[in-house]
Amino acid sequence: MEKASSFQLLAILLTSLHLLATSSLAMNISTDQSSLLALKAHITSDPSQIVSTNWSSVTSVCYWIGITCGSRHQRVIGLDISYMNITGTIPPQLGNLSFLVSLDLSYNYFHSELPPEFSHLRRLRDIDLSYNNFTGEIPIGIATLQILKWLSLGFNELLNGSNALSIFNISTLEYLDLGTAGLTGDFPSDLCRRIPRLQLLSLDSNKLSGRIPRIISECSELQVLWLDQNNFVGEIPRELGIIPDEIGQLYNLKYLLIGENKLTGSIPFTIFNMSSLEWLVMNLNKLEGSLPREIGNMTMLNLLHLSDNNLMGVIPYEIGNLKLMNVAFSRNNFSGSIPCRNLRNLSTLELDDNDFTGIVPRTISSLKKLERLSLSVNRISGPFPIVLCELPNLGMLTLSQNHMWGNIPSCLGTMTSLREVYLDSNNFTAGIPSSLWNLKDILKLNLSSNFFDGSLPPEVENLEAAILMDLSWNQISGNIPSTFGGIQKLIQLSLAHNKIEGFIPETFGKLIDLQVLDLSYNNISGVIPKSLEELKQLDSFNVSFNRLHGEIPNGGPFVHLSYKSFMSNEGLCGNPQNHVPACPSNSKNHSNSKKRRLIWIVVASSLIIVIGITSAIVFVLMRRRHKTINAEEEWSPEEESIAHTTTFATIGYIAPEYGLEGLISKRSDVYSYGIMLLETFTRKKPSDEMFTGDLNLRSCVHNSLPDELDQIIDADLLTLDEENLSQKLQCVSSIMDLAMKCTTNIPVERMNTTDVIAALKKIKRKLSSCYRTT
Ligand SMILES: *[C@@H]1O[C@H](CO)[C@@H](O)[C@H](O)[C@H]1NC(C)=O
Ligand SMILES: *[C@@H]1O[C@H](CO)[C@@H](O)[C@H](O)[C@H]1NC(C)=O
Ligand SMILES: *[C@@H]1O[C@H](CO)[C@@H](O)[C@H](O)[C@H]1NC(C)=O
Ligand SMILES: *[C@@H]1O[C@H](CO)[C@@H](O)[C@H](O)[C@H]1NC(C)=O
Ligand SMILES: *[C@@H]1O[C@H](CO)[C@@H](O)[C@H](O)[C@H]1NC(C)=O
Ligand SMILES: *[C@@H]1O[C@H](CO)[C@@H](O)[C@H](O)[C@H]1NC(C)=O
Ligand SMILES: *[C@@H]1O[C@H](CO)[C@@H](O)[C@H](O)[C@H]1NC(C)=O
Ligand SMILES: *[C@@H]1O[C@H](CO)[C@@H](O)[C@H](O)[C@H]1NC(C)=O
Ligand SMILES: *[C@@H]1O[C@H](CO)[C@@H](O)[C@H](O)[C@H]1NC(C)=O
Ligand SMILES: *[C@@H]1O[C@H](CO)[C@@H](O)[C@H](O)[C@H]1NC(C)=O
Ligand SMILES: *[C@@H]1O[C@H](CO)[C@@H](O)[C@H](O)[C@H]1NC(C)=O
Ligand SMILES: *[C@@H]1O[C@H](CO)[C@@H](O)[C@H](O)[C@H]1NC(C)=O
Repeated sequence: MEKASSFQLLAILLTSLHLLATSSLAMNISTDQSSLLALKAHITSDPSQIVSTNWSSVTSVCYWIGITCGSRHQRVIGLDISYMNITGTIPPQLGNLSFLVSLDLSYNYFHSELPPEFSHLRRLRDIDLSYNNFTGEIPIGIATLQILKWLSLGFNELLNGSNALSIFNISTLEYLDLGTAGLTGDFPSDLCRRIPRLQLLSLDSNKLSGRIPRIISECSELQVLWLDQNNFVGEIPRELGIIPDEIGQLYNLKYLLIGENKLTGSIPFTIFNMSSLEWLVMNLNKLEGSLPREIGNMTMLNLLHLSDNNLMGVIPYEIGNLKLMNVAFSRNNFSGSIPCRNLRNLSTLELDDNDFTGIVPRTISSLKKLERLSLSVNRISGPFPIVLCELPNLGMLTLSQNHMWGNIPSCLGTMTSLREVYLDSNNFTAGIPSSLWNLKDILKLNLSSNFFDGSLPPEVENLEAAILMDLSWNQISGNIPSTFGGIQKLIQLSLAHNKIEGFIPETFGKLIDLQVLDLSYNNISGVIPKSLEELKQLDSFNVSFNRLHGEIPNGGPFVHLSYKSFMSNEGLCGNPQNHVPACPSNSKNHSNSKKRRLIWIVVASSLIIVIGITSAIVFVLMRRRHKTINAEEEWSPEEESIAHTTTFATIGYIAPEYGLEGLISKRSDVYSYGIMLLETFTRKKPSDEMFTGDLNLRSCVHNSLPDELDQIIDADLLTLDEENLSQKLQCVSSIMDLAMKCTTNIPVERMNTTDVIAALKKIKRKLSSCYRTT
């Protein structure tokens, strides 16, 4: 008996001696080094090259980056290679770092399973393996490490975690993060008995189901309970208990996050007694009932997020007692007036889609820290609350879908903090204040579905940061300023359902990030600029119900667009897939454009030769009308002398004073020249029968300047589908201007020849730049 027991004793002694020997002999700093070298050998990618170059046996491990050694034993106690983008696996040798206290491998791409040898690391207090690609199960060796305080395995793919929570048994654990870790199964009812000291429990974004156990109150030191985005179900009343009443006994709880579950019933009354609570997040459940006055007891509360439930009733007055910074009640059925009494620290107030009524209270101007105000989809009335202009930090303002009316005060344009402004679907009227175009940092502007009128000024381009502009469904008229092309970050632009005229600016082709362009239901004329083919991101384009003509571009995004984009215009042509007639054949186009180009060159070169009557132009005219293209091609400015001989003493070309006084002067020549310019570009003779009464060739052109030139210009000279159209129209417009100045009825008001020549030289330069690329 004794023998046996002393033998046993000896055996025990021997074993422990052996253990002692192996640990003290085998385990020294050299072991640590080989463990770490084994880890290094399991790294397959190390983009920052820190470990692969620095971890070298040339220096002691204690000098390696990421390694901390204990001063007493000179053994590795800390390993931190977080945020290094390392790809690799964990070798079993890691279990030999027997002095390790703290391990941080977070924010890397370590993958595969965690080795069971973790259980050897008896001194570990902190483990952070979050943000990696670990798979498999949580080793029981980790879940039972006896002095562990901090364990973070969040953001991994521990897919096989159905019983993960029931293996934990660590009386010292204070921080357990298993968020986004692929956990399934129930919340074990005895969890708080096995991890009683928990201060933080994060289980968010898993697939846990069942009920939150009542026993949760035994985790009495809990400060953070994060159960968002699971499938917890049940009703809140005590008997059925999913948010059990007992949760109110967590007197130390500061952060309670149980949003995005399937919780029903009303919010347990005990929650309003949790005077330590700073965050209460219960959004996206099916909670019912109203908020009691006792909410005023939660004096530490600064974030209250109850959006997306079925809560109702008036917000209690007592809410003004709180230190709230962040309130979100969106998508419930709350009613009454907007709560903002006394909430001086509020930075976010989101009340969208409820049943709030009345006007925006004046007291809102005392919320000087307000950054986000979102009141859309309620029944708020009254004019635009001008007191909002007194909020110096307001970045987002959403008043969409309410019953507000009147004009937008120009002070809105002084609020340089604004980044997003949504005023859509109200009854706002009058012009958009010009000050609004000063908000150069604004990202999103939605003024759609109001009664804004007036036109858009060139200053729209000041909104250089804008990515979204929606001005649709208003009464906006005038042209689209070509400066839109300067808002280079635009992704979405809608001007649909307005009264916009003029052309689509070619500069739209510079908006290379544009994905949505809606110009439908306006009075836009001209062509779809070919420059839009550059908009590689464009996937929604709508110009239907306008007065466009010419060829629909066929490159870039136009390859994929549906015919609906182009419906109901006056004269679009192109691919039959777009339900439009084919354009005149290519070869004809080609020769047409060749011809046009020739004429332009002729006009351009002859322009500077003019002295007296510009018979060169007239010559070109005649040739064009009566001869073949070849004849035109043969023409050269040198033939000018021939042209000179032609006289045009026909009615209409002659200055009015001829008939009256028989005066012949340089100024009369200028008149005839002007008329000939008009004729050349309009292809209408001054004697055309359309000119009767006050309407003559000159007044006809005069009336169409500057915006309607495209309607009177000779289609052979310039069709609306050519490149650089607006630039060319500008050239024509300046020539027509010149013609106007040459043809005033009073001779002394006409330009003199020297000025005409100077102006022509200028125009010529412009012209040649238009045509260089054609
Ligand atoms: C570590 O122990 C081994 C024997 O197990 C010995 O050879 C080696 O010298 C020791 N290294 C140090 C640094 O003590
Ligand atoms: C590793 O980095 C440490 C600290 O920067 C440095 O002292 C040591 O010399 C480096 N070792 C190697 C081999 O580069
Ligand atoms: C890791 O990758 C991210 C994203 O590519 C990069 O911003 C960061 O600088 C990288 N860190 C290191 C240490 O290379
Ligand atoms: C370290 O661990 C590995 C695997 O767990 C083992 O094979 C090895 O013998 C251990 N000891 C040393 C000194 O590396
Ligand atoms: C890590 O996991 C993510 C998500 O499954 C995957 O997209 C990614 O490719 C993985 N990265 C590596 C380096 O394995
Ligand atoms: C989960 O683990 C068990 C054994 O531990 C294994 O049989 C099963 O295939 C694993 N499932 C997955 C999805 O990894
Ligand atoms: C938890 O560990 C303790 C020892 O630390 C042990 O006594 C107890 O039985 C364990 N509990 C469970 C449920 O495994
Ligand atoms: C709220 O506080 C008052 C005292 O300020 C107290 O009488 C009342 O019981 C508290 N309500 C709750 C629900 O704890
Ligand atoms: C409110 O909390 C106090 C402790 O802070 C507690 O004594 C009291 O019973 C609680 N009241 C309710 C109604 O839960
Ligand atoms: C606002 O916040 C400050 C600092 O967080 C705090 O001291 C102050 O009491 C708060 N005021 C109100 C009215 O909540
Ligand atoms: C909202 O509350 C009112 C009573 O205030 C009720 O008549 C209405 O049906 C509720 N609407 C919804 C969608 O629950
Ligand atoms: C808004 O305008 C529409 C159309 O003019 C009108 O029917 C409606 O009553 C107006 N609403 C308010 C609140 O002014």
